[in-house]
Amino acid sequence: MCGIVGYIGNNNAIPVILKALEKLTYRGYDSAGIAIIEKGKLVVEKKVGKIRELIRALWGKSYQSHIGIGHTRWATHGAPSVENAHPQTDEGKNFAIVHNGIIENYQELKEELIKKGHKFQSQTDTEVIVHLIAEYYKGNLLEAVLKAIKRLKGAFAFAVISTFEPDKIVAVKKGSPLIVGLGKGENFLASDIPAILPYTRNVIPLDDGEIAVLTKDSVDIFNFEGLPVSKEIFVVPWDILSAEKGGFKHFMLKEIFEQPKAISDTIGGFLSQDLNLPFDIKNINRIITIACGSSYHAGLVGKYWIEKNAKIPNEVIYASEFRYADVPIDENTLVLAISQSGETADTRFAALSAKEKGATVVGIVNVVGSSLDREADFTLYTHAGPEISVAATKTYSAQLTLLYLISILLAHKKNLISKEDFYNRIDEFKKIASSVEKTLQLNEKISDIASKYKHSSSILFMGRWLNYPTALEGALKLKEISYIHAEGYPAGEMKHGPIALIDENMPVVIIAPKDRVYDKILSNLEEVLSRKGRVISVGFEGDKVLKQKSEKFLSIPYTDEEWTPLITVVPLKLFAYHIADQLGLDVDQPRNLAKTVTVE
Ligand code: AGP
Repeated sequence: MCGIVGYIGNNNAIPVILKALEKLTYRGYDSAGIAIIEKGKLVVEKKVGKIRELIRALWGKSYQSHIGIGHTRWATHGAPSVENAHPQTDEGKNFAIVHNGIIENYQELKEELIKKGHKFQSQTDTEVIVHLIAEYYKGNLLEAVLKAIKRLKGAFAFAVISTFEPDKIVAVKKGSPLIVGLGKGENFLASDIPAILPYTRNVIPLDDGEIAVLTKDSVDIFNFEGLPVSKEIFVVPWDILSAEKGGFKHFMLKEIFEQPKAISDTIGGFLSQDLNLPFDIKNINRIITIACGSSYHAGLVGKYWIEKNAKIPNEVIYASEFRYADVPIDENTLVLAISQSGETADTRFAALSAKEKGATVVGIVNVVGSSLDREADFTLYTHAGPEISVAATKTYSAQLTLLYLISILLAHKKNLISKEDFYNRIDEFKKIASSVEKTLQLNEKISDIASKYKHSSSILFMGRWLNYPTALEGALKLKEISYIHAEGYPAGEMKHGPIALIDENMPVVIIAPKDRVYDKILSNLEEVLSRKGRVISVGFEGDKVLKQKSEKFLSIPYTDEEWTPLITVVPLKLFAYHIADQLGLDVDQPRNLAKTVTVE
């Protein structure tokens, strides 16, 4: 999704902005641009495609500027093109803006501004903001911005600079994420933390309804009424190295190999947190989990754990569906809002609407200080470290880890298990990290297997019970990075439709650890074989029956049936990774996708 960067300070703005933009490319983008003020004039450079095109366009041009804004655009309104790329400017070239989010009433504003004589150059919704600011400018940029935002509907974050006041950047947040980075003699602005990690770890995350005015020596925050707001400085706990590739070909592979650490760190983080719940468990009669994509799949596994261990009914709903459905919610409902980024618009807005209806909202997030972290009633953190690849891998493992821990914490609070049992289970559970480590040794074997299936036009994934969500996750991972059509199904449902798809060309991945549904899924496997389907199975080491029935067998270490989803998903992530890599695709930044989806 779009990325915003801003710089003001003693150094040349261009290299700082380009480097910061590169750190945001993992979010997904189709064009990029930069605006600086040099010798009192606005200079704008924009390119379609990768950041390197923008860098090439700037080669040999010895611009020197101490203020600038940059942007990576992921098209919503208007196709990817130079005209539609940001920064957008007014026709007088006195104001430049970069913007994330959507201005819902842009059409009516555009018509109004055209009648007043403004000339538009793009199809974007963004352009209305810069024209509005130019229209309202009467010698004070902050006042013009305050006036303009009163006219805007939608969720947005933007940064604006002006030749009239070349010593400041004004930035606004309402809905989309925006953080200020604090330096010495310089200050930064970005839509995501990795962009400014090379320069500072001291940040101020802006809240919705706030405006920041950055000069090289100061940062002042105001509300939308123009009144000053005091904010705390937050120190980012990550180091820059953890956001680099560290010798791996792709971030995705690196992050797959970081799963054992993500699991151990999440257990460690959980144990060091205050485990007194800020609500009375006796009052909770229902849990609703809201999430999107992989976080939704983690929530589905969590449902089985919570219902089994804590005996509380747990419904899992896509956040984008929840918001507009009439789900009965009251103060006895506990809502788990899961989002690794903490910025996913669907999840945030669903969480806010649940909160309005009286539910207690628990955020399960990986990014401390993110919007959901701040908006939830309280947060439990996954400790996966920064995840750069668009495909969620280690954050999914960390979410599963935390959901299991939550399930037994709730069980303990309900007196269903003793304190001793609670801690004993956690001690046992810690061993999962080394089982994942062992499973990663399948890497080379899976690379070989991937080469045999990479030209498939479709692949089915089947699992049952706790590993039905694993099938969904395996299919999502494959389709998002390899562009091969994939479906995840509960294996028992196969006979109700998908079985019609099976023939000698259809690979079927069957997840079959020896658990309570093992015999059932073996019968499903037989159904696939009788239709000549090609079975790739994931099962416990030493499972001769499964191995003998499969074209390819991926053996995972024996694990308690309850914890298998943390292990079975590992080979599926590697399978998707190697197929995409062998097809020569952009593994970390798959087409059309964004890491942080901040539009509804
Ligand atoms: C996962 O591989 C996807 N890229 C995507 O489905 C992701 O899980 C989803 O967009 C939710 O993101 P979040 O966890 O940051 O809210």
